[in-house]
Amino acid sequence: MSQEAVTSKPKLTREGLREALALFQFVRPYRVHFFVGIFLLFLSSTVFMIFPYVVGLMLDIAQGKPATLAGYPMDLSKIGVLLIVTLVFQGFVSYFRVTLFAVVSERGTADIRIALYQKLISLPMVFFEKSRVGELVSRVANDVDKIYNTFYFVLAEFLRQIILLIGGIIFLAWQTPHLAGIMLASFPIFVVGAMIFGRYIRKLSKERQQILGDTNTILDETLQAINAVKAFANEAFEIARYRRINDKVINTSLKFASGRALFAAFIITILFGALFFVIWTGMRMVETNEITAGQLVSFVTFTGVVGASIAGLGNFYSELVSAIGATERVREILRSDTEFALRPQTNKAAGRLKGNIQFRDIHFSYPTRADVPVLKGVTFGIQSGSKVALVGQSGAGKSTIMQLLLQFHQAISGSIEIDGVNIQDYDLSDYRHNFALVPQEVILFGGTIRENILYGKPDAPEAEIIEAAKQAKCWEFISAFPEGLDTIVGERGIRLSGGQRQRIAIARAILRNPSILLLDEATSSLDAESERDVQEALNNLMESRTSIIIAHRLATIREADQIFVLDGGQIVEQGRHDELYANTEGLYHSLAKLQFSEVG
Ligand SMILES: Nc1ncnc2c1ncn2[C@@H]1O[C@H](COP(=O)(O)OP(=O)(O)OP(=O)(O)O)[C@@H](O)[C@H]1O
Ligand SMILES: [Mg+2]
Repeated sequence: MSQEAVTSKPKLTREGLREALALFQFVRPYRVHFFVGIFLLFLSSTVFMIFPYVVGLMLDIAQGKPATLAGYPMDLSKIGVLLIVTLVFQGFVSYFRVTLFAVVSERGTADIRIALYQKLISLPMVFFEKSRVGELVSRVANDVDKIYNTFYFVLAEFLRQIILLIGGIIFLAWQTPHLAGIMLASFPIFVVGAMIFGRYIRKLSKERQQILGDTNTILDETLQAINAVKAFANEAFEIARYRRINDKVINTSLKFASGRALFAAFIITILFGALFFVIWTGMRMVETNEITAGQLVSFVTFTGVVGASIAGLGNFYSELVSAIGATERVREILRSDTEFALRPQTNKAAGRLKGNIQFRDIHFSYPTRADVPVLKGVTFGIQSGSKVALVGQSGAGKSTIMQLLLQFHQAISGSIEIDGVNIQDYDLSDYRHNFALVPQEVILFGGTIRENILYGKPDAPEAEIIEAAKQAKCWEFISAFPEGLDTIVGERGIRLSGGQRQRIAIARAILRNPSILLLDEATSSLDAESERDVQEALNNLMESRTSIIIAHRLATIREADQIFVLDGGQIVEQGRHDELYANTEGLYHSLAKLQFSEVG
């Protein structure tokens, strides 16, 4: 990753800038706030320039010289009033400017965050298989935060410094052109320095951001899988891994910091060098009466302002540059195609499907492992309303068939039709509404049990939830919790057992009342007794719809109308239990025999 960033460096600057500017679409809805804010910024920065001028003016007046401001004769008391009025004005303007920018940045970044999430959640499954979740979370959190910071603080400061810089230079050139000329001569040095350092700092900032993402990934993964870490007593290993990556972070960060420090040192040295030289020349000009002492003081004060803004620009520049790195990563996601965009745009309404399923010569391998074929020409048909079982050894491709049905992935060749229509031609959301999946591994959301069951049908009334829970045989343990359905599950609440989670997933499926039911080892975590209970519920649930069951326990699939036996990516046998079992040479027979001998 970092290598790629280095090799494509010169292009990235322009590209990155374009990306950053593209993000301004999020400022658009608040452009009135934004431009009024910019205007106030401009106003307060311009008015600020009165101060250095007035300091020089006061010195001349104090020395008894006549002085005017914009043609009006001035004395110290008038100037005092002027200063008070200006300060009060500055206070008001600053207040409104900060408030306006806050609206733009808070709302703008919230919009970015939402857009990012919206995009992220609609990306095709393969995206999630390719990227690590920790990295994505860090993108939504850190990168957006960086962009926020830029909108809110850096951008305004950057503009202010530029206004001060330009305004200051114009004033200097007008008042004391000779001195300004000397000062400006040192300018190219700043510019060249800033360019060189800026590029270097930018690269390091990007690297640092990436490595930081990696540390989060480790943190995330190990804390999520803390059971595995502890069970394997791999704490020391993980700590060492984390330490190693943190060492990398320190290295890159320190390089980043020293780049910035060097830049600051460079600016300060050149700045003061130029300043002292100019003061020395200025003193000689006062000596020969070419300028007044007041003019010199104004000049020095202005030069201070200009110098400070140049130094500030260096800092803000590097921050802007690192924010551009963040915008590039954010825009990369915003630009990707959603799974909805990636399909033929027929968007046929699916309505409630009957559930006549036909697989025709399906070849498939996962995009992340394109060279390993998982399905090699799978053809089978399922009658609407029938109960079908998929059997086969672990890794045979049973869950994969369900994933293809849900259109998590597309087949490489062949077609899947439901009710005579290629499933890709259906509107995707509409299509998926026909399914309920009880997955092999149930992961519940962090909310309440109620929310988790309602996931199947968000608008279901209370009575329906309880009925579903009763049917799924989970009402008993739910009602035993003091908070009942409102018991929080997961991180901040009760940890449920595998079997309990599975039953909640079944309740969710019951509530959904799907036309096609997918059960992937839906009862694998239950003990024999609960399984019998739940099986009853599942039998009821399967009654009026097409159901596809994957089960290792043959007891669960004995009743199936049709059994498909998968082996080596193909369907090798099909039929009812009795027929298949009768074939003593067949794979089904040997699988079944193994089971019964296990049980017996
Ligand atoms: N997301 C994935 N990316 C790459 N390969 C995958 C992915 N999921 C599964 N596979 C591979 O595809 C093959 C079939 O996997 P699948 O999950 O369909 O098996 P299964 O029949 O459901 O097995 P089990 O009974 O153990 O659940 C396996 O070799 C597996 O390694
Ligand atoms: Mg599986």
